[in-house]
Amino acid sequence: MEFRTIIEPFRIHSVEPLRLTTVAERETAIRAAGYNLFALRSVDVLIDLLTDSGTGAMSRDQWAGVQRGDESYAGSPSWFRFLESVQDLFPFRHVIPTHQGRAAEKILFTAIGGPGRVIPNNTHFDTTRANVEFTGAEAVDLVIAEGLDPASEHPFKGNMDVQRLDALLTARARDVPVVFVTVTNNSGGGQPVSLANLRAVREVCDRHGVPLFLDACRFAENAWFIREREPEQAGRDVRDIVRDMAALADGMTMSAKKDGLANIGGWLALDDDALAEACRNLLILTEGFPTYGGLAGRDLEAIAQGLREVVDHDYLHYRIRSTAYLGEALLADGVPVVRPIGGHAVYLDARALLPHVPALQYPGQSPAVALYEAGGIRSCEIGTVMFGLRPDGTEQPAALDLVRLAIPRRTYTQSHIDYVIEVCREVAGRAATLRGMRIVEAPRALRHFTARFEPL
Ligand SMILES: Cc1ncc(COP(=O)(O)O)c(C=O)c1O
Repeated sequence: MEFRTIIEPFRIHSVEPLRLTTVAERETAIRAAGYNLFALRSVDVLIDLLTDSGTGAMSRDQWAGVQRGDESYAGSPSWFRFLESVQDLFPFRHVIPTHQGRAAEKILFTAIGGPGRVIPNNTHFDTTRANVEFTGAEAVDLVIAEGLDPASEHPFKGNMDVQRLDALLTARARDVPVVFVTVTNNSGGGQPVSLANLRAVREVCDRHGVPLFLDACRFAENAWFIREREPEQAGRDVRDIVRDMAALADGMTMSAKKDGLANIGGWLALDDDALAEACRNLLILTEGFPTYGGLAGRDLEAIAQGLREVVDHDYLHYRIRSTAYLGEALLADGVPVVRPIGGHAVYLDARALLPHVPALQYPGQSPAVALYEAGGIRSCEIGTVMFGLRPDGTEQPAALDLVRLAIPRRTYTQSHIDYVIEVCREVAGRAATLRGMRIVEAPRALRHFTARFEPL
């Protein structure tokens, strides 16, 4: 493109109002929410960057699919359209539809987890780790060292450390029912995994006879990065790169709320017949019949169409460039962010922004609260609040303390993002005055969703 402006490759067809509030109103709201952004009412939020999960805008053709949804209990045409769309990109023999990604994780780890088992991943996401640990198994993160250095410019910081994986499998392959790779690596800054790394992981798995699964939530964004950054893959059709990624794996879990471009949905897909049967039996217990799982026919239609749109090159170019636009503006202002800029989010490096706040005082939580109070922006701490509590009840600093500004797909315009840049600049300018937090109430698992905090 000869012009620099990133234009949204769509125009707006229906609008949702946003409510402007005052700083005083927001201070009251966040205090009442126990300084937990998950506990806010969304009408009190101006720009909602809490998550990119299920919060995107659906297209005209997806809404048309919703109208076409066939709600037959078994064997509905909507199911077959969904199946065809999934298998066009991920040709696994068995596709098991679930209401969202964590339901696929719950089913899979119930079938193959358990005490004494170990599940390696580049970095487990919160629900993945929790579902592994809930079965009594151990969740191990083996991302490359650069993936833990927010300032490293490595182009594939989501890559798995294959040496450490090899060492783990040499010692304990019999305890490892599956190796996972998360694309892109959400907890590590939305960083991609290269095709070369996936091939190397596959080779290690083959040598030890262990299957490889993808946590494929952001597969299209990952494939775009492969096309852009991996010289041997330059210029390829993203669909073919996705199929290459799938061909290296034995199965996948998926949240269609991300690169399914849908508001709900997910699936588990795999080749192993016996494991698929065990998983389908679990599906029927908690989700539903195997041709709808946890979804209505209309949702299956929305996902089927979303999967066709998400691999469109104009969409992916806009998506990745517009996330980079926010990140690059913050970097230019001297705000520390994880580099290079990831696919679905920009991550503030809270330890660099608040070096005076120790990890166990949650340096990610207070800037997240400050962004809300100052500008009504809702972000998400991804750090010691989310990952610091161990299964034995002890607390330790997470590998990184980040504040994630997740960008919902096709939802906000460039002027919304310009406003976010202004608010971040203002909060970063007074970061030295922000204090840490303490947790006054929290559950034992996934505490970040419901914990209550107090400023120190
Ligand atoms: C990498 C990753 N895995 C799994 C999940 C879980 O998906 P869901 O929210 O649909 O349950 C998420 C959700 O954010 C994720 O980012």
